[in-house]
Amino acid sequence: MHPIVPSGHRLRRLRRSAPLRVLVQENTLTVADLIWPIFVREGVNLREPIASMPGVDRLSVDLAVKAAEEAAGLGIPVICLFPYTDPAVKTLTCEEAWNPENLTNRAIRAIKAAVPDIAVMTDVALDPYNVLGHDGLVVDGVILNDESVEALVKMALVQAEAGADILGPSDMMDGRIGAIRNALEGAGHQGVAIMSYAAKYVSAFYGPFRDAVGASGALKGDKKTYQMNCANSDEALRLVARDLAEGADMVMVKPGMPYLDICRRVKDTYGVPTFAYQVSGEYAMIKAAALNGWIDGEKAMLESLMGFKRSGCDGILTYFAPAAARLIRAGL
Ligand code: PBG
Repeated sequence: MHPIVPSGHRLRRLRRSAPLRVLVQENTLTVADLIWPIFVREGVNLREPIASMPGVDRLSVDLAVKAAEEAAGLGIPVICLFPYTDPAVKTLTCEEAWNPENLTNRAIRAIKAAVPDIAVMTDVALDPYNVLGHDGLVVDGVILNDESVEALVKMALVQAEAGADILGPSDMMDGRIGAIRNALEGAGHQGVAIMSYAAKYVSAFYGPFRDAVGASGALKGDKKTYQMNCANSDEALRLVARDLAEGADMVMVKPGMPYLDICRRVKDTYGVPTFAYQVSGEYAMIKAAALNGWIDGEKAMLESLMGFKRSGCDGILTYFAPAAARLIRAGL
């Protein structure tokens, strides 16, 4: 679209007053656009702050249920669970990942029983359960693809069994979407949706998350053999095409703010439900600047979230979800 604008046209006319500005506003941010990622831990009535994510806590399962109630009350449609796994149950073979009684699966059951109106999304990757902190199985320093996919399938099935509505494979192994989709079909879980972390980049912005799930100390090396190179864009389209062909219902771009060009290309090319993850480091940057009094935290938060909508995203995974929902509901 190349609009013809007569030279000298006074474009400020439509910015003159609040009613005219809202009349011609192109994009909107609503509570229904938000997915809230939360961190769960063992224990009862425990809330443990995460130093690098001010305002975000690890919650015991009972408090995670309360968070889900709060989210549903605000109209947030999806809550996404990430476990802080006791280092004692981490192994090289990661079997805790497909333990039907692991923390995530207990949290899914508790939330689905107490808050049937909220959809529960999960993370499908081995890093919280891996002594080496990688998303796949590591043998002799190599991240094995097909063996990892077999493990991820087992993990996905127990999550579906526990009642997860949306599975989020975040591991970037090849072939995992097709394998998980086949397994779900075979096990009678045809209704479980998959949001593929299709274009997931190697990123310094995941730092605070790795503190939150206790993977920072564990991670040996980097994730460059499976996550994407931040210099690439065409490759993201090939990954999205492949994951859609294998049965993904929705796709995600991650991180968010440095990759809005990728969101736009994915949405324009495929027209499928497209999401972005405003990751922990993006949250931490805005929070840290706001806590220093250097920016207006609420305005920066809403502006950053609108940027995702403008870039074609259908929704955003964001740690700001409840705070943003409150402001949106208040009409700000
Ligand atoms: C790992 C995973 C990561 C995040 C979500 N799932 C980190 C990583 O790939 O190392 C990051 C989310 C965030 O930073 O908020 N499977």
